[in-house]
Amino acid sequence: MELQGKTAVITGGAIRVGRAITLALAQAECNVYIHYNRSATPALETQQAAQAFGVRAEVYSADLHDATAVQAIMPAARAAFGQVDILINNAAIFPEEDSFTATDLALWDELFHINLRAPFLLCQAFAAQLPPDRPGCIVNVLDARVRRPYPDHFAYRLSKGALWQMTEMLAHELAPHITVNGVALGAILPPPGKGQNYLDTLAQERVPLQRPGSPDIVAQNVLHLLRQDFLTGVILPIDGGEFL
Ligand SMILES: NC(=O)c1ccc[n+]([C@@H]2O[C@H](COP(=O)([O-])OP(=O)(O)OC[C@H]3O[C@@H](n4cnc5c(N)ncnc54)[C@H](OP(=O)(O)O)[C@@H]3O)[C@@H](O)[C@H]2O)c1
Repeated sequence: MELQGKTAVITGGAIRVGRAITLALAQAECNVYIHYNRSATPALETQQAAQAFGVRAEVYSADLHDATAVQAIMPAARAAFGQVDILINNAAIFPEEDSFTATDLALWDELFHINLRAPFLLCQAFAAQLPPDRPGCIVNVLDARVRRPYPDHFAYRLSKGALWQMTEMLAHELAPHITVNGVALGAILPPPGKGQNYLDTLAQERVPLQRPGSPDIVAQNVLHLLRQDFLTGVILPIDGGEFL
């Protein structure tokens, strides 16, 4: 897909990995609809940074735990831009305490609502609003750790594993006019509360390439998937070989 003049909705597009994807799209002259939940101030800062590339950028807040709020995102984006060509499902939660024994019903629901149900509802709304003669692209942000069935981050892994499966299923379902791909991240940014040293040490120990990735590397791979119109159902591990 040629990105210039298109419109993308990016969930969690205000900070960290989502911000890098937002700004890479803006730099490619794609208009951006920046979804956020709590990061109102960073959303406005990212909006300004995107506008500096000469594109239209709007911000929109919605709690992805709330299905009604999720279902309002695509109509709001259409009202602002007329049509949405690209959907990036980036927002997710990654709770620290999520073992098999510690995961209670509330945490299970939160994880599955935000990490899986919201992308599902957004994919559905995205596909429904796109005219059949107009190409569209979805990229889901996944986690490379689900390539290995270890039980840490129990419900998180399951939610991301199901999103991985949904990515491949939708590549079939939405062909030929919508491509559906994913990026599966390894060590990209430290989790909240941990510094860069933590990630560097972890990468030295576990990642064959012995270094962490970066949000910019993720963003460049997302753009690659968007631009290649013969790729669908492709999930690119961006993990330096960690989960080979
Ligand atoms: N960082 C890594 O190294 C890494 C590794 C593997 C996979 N990933 C995946 O990459 C993606 C981005 O990672 P990240 O580290 O940049 O994420 P992050 O810093 O944890 O940010 C999470 C994003 O999700 C949004 N979000 C969280 N709860 C939400 C809710 N209830 N409603 C709406 N939005 C909500 C946040 O929005 P607000 O801030 O506006 O609330 C934020 O933009 C995620 O899908 C993550 O699973 C990241």
